[in-house]
Amino acid sequence: MANIKFFSGKTTPIEMHRVRIIQKLNLLPIEDRLKAIQEAGNNTFLLKNADVFLDMLTDSGTNAMSNDQLAAMSQADDSYAGSATFYRLEKAVRHVFGMEYFLPAHQGRACEHILAKYFIRKKGQVIPMNYHFTTAKAHITECGGQILEIPIKEAFEMTSQHPFKGNLDIDALEATIAKYGKEGIPFVRMEAGTNLIGGQPFSLQNFREVSAVCRKHGIPLVHDISLFSDNLHFCKQREEGCKDMSIHEIALAFAEASDILYFSGRKLGCARGGGICTNSKQLYLDMRVFVPLFEGFLTYGGMSVREMEAMAVGLMETLDEDNISQGPQFIEYMVGELVKLKIPVVTPAGGLGCHLNARDFLSHLKPTEYPAGALASAMYLISGVRGMERGTLSEQRNEDGSEIIAQMELLRLALPRRVFTMSQIVYTVDRVNWLYQNRHLVGGLKWTEEPPILRFFFGRLEPNSDWQQKLVAKFRDDFGDSL
Ligand code: F0G
Repeated sequence: MANIKFFSGKTTPIEMHRVRIIQKLNLLPIEDRLKAIQEAGNNTFLLKNADVFLDMLTDSGTNAMSNDQLAAMSQADDSYAGSATFYRLEKAVRHVFGMEYFLPAHQGRACEHILAKYFIRKKGQVIPMNYHFTTAKAHITECGGQILEIPIKEAFEMTSQHPFKGNLDIDALEATIAKYGKEGIPFVRMEAGTNLIGGQPFSLQNFREVSAVCRKHGIPLVHDISLFSDNLHFCKQREEGCKDMSIHEIALAFAEASDILYFSGRKLGCARGGGICTNSKQLYLDMRVFVPLFEGFLTYGGMSVREMEAMAVGLMETLDEDNISQGPQFIEYMVGELVKLKIPVVTPAGGLGCHLNARDFLSHLKPTEYPAGALASAMYLISGVRGMERGTLSEQRNEDGSEIIAQMELLRLALPRRVFTMSQIVYTVDRVNWLYQNRHLVGGLKWTEEPPILRFFFGRLEPNSDWQQKLVAKFRDDFGDSL
């Protein structure tokens, strides 16, 4: 964001845009919120948006679009094959990433589906990565592969000064390759703005080291750039070697060190869709067959042409530093306020959202009482803010049915880019603080319906006592008739 200093000395992030379209919000009374969360099986994915005040579930498909994106949508060329819209998008992809070939797909997980199907040829093959994302892991395991997470040790430290907790441990990568060999490792995956450890970036330097190891051994490096805009911002802000580079130069440097880029266009480019980019004609030709099979014809890949137009403009806007820094700077402000209140939160602030450390927040709960799920339920109840559980509930059970206790038990309060105002952040911090002061009232959750795959999306749970009623009563004592 622009360098604007305040006379007061405060460091308040200031938006370099103005709001020209609004959506009316609704905040239900807490008694109605209790009904809504019970009807949703204490799963915030199952809440109706009409019952939500501030939707911090995700930044996926919920970022605010620019006036230029909206204008571009009206020039969309609706045709099944050879749409002019596709060529505009392809041109933008070539410009932004310097990658020649582009395969469109309807969203990020569709790219993961294609990559897993193409690369994983034998059961038990290993995909080393800095950290998994739920859908990436599900597609890899569906195809018989297994993930191996080898981030630096700081990745799992909730509070840290490390600027790049998403870095990969290079020695561990070498050791992994020595153990499994090139044949056992179809690709290495690096995830920008590493989602599940709190939106934490990796450095360009670390990425180049990973790339050098991969190239030495002839193993493709697949780069998930769904959260690239945050990662680019952090490289510019935190990495000495990137200080004098433009955002575009940093983006091109990352692309140059990658064999394949893929992204969720619901995050990167602030539209809805996705795609795979490469400079390898062979990889392009090999994977191309999957696009008409699973997604749609090669010139739309399951996306609406209007979204493709918006994505082309949105990708170009990713190169504007004022544009991409709004999210991380608001998150940094929010995290800073929570740290001042001594509330356990992942530091340093990352991209995507603010991540509460549910294990410490609700330290009286057992891991199998799902602290992050309980915190998500409690947070909605007392504030109307919808966050997302990113912990044990988001894991899949082991094959023997035992529970995998997540390394990090987080409640993510996502800040979709350019959507929330400062006063809404202030409200959220206020309610998190109240909940923290009353945390002893919050109990655990237990399953009532547990789906076998990606269970967090539509599983249902119930409280293990009447703790929610007690929380409502305390809210009324403290806030009177406030919503
Ligand atoms: N990779 C990353 C790093 C993601 O964060 C996501 C989605 C995907 C891939 C899959 O993309 O949703 O377009 O299919 N993350 C969303 C989230 C769902 O809420 O964090 P998709």
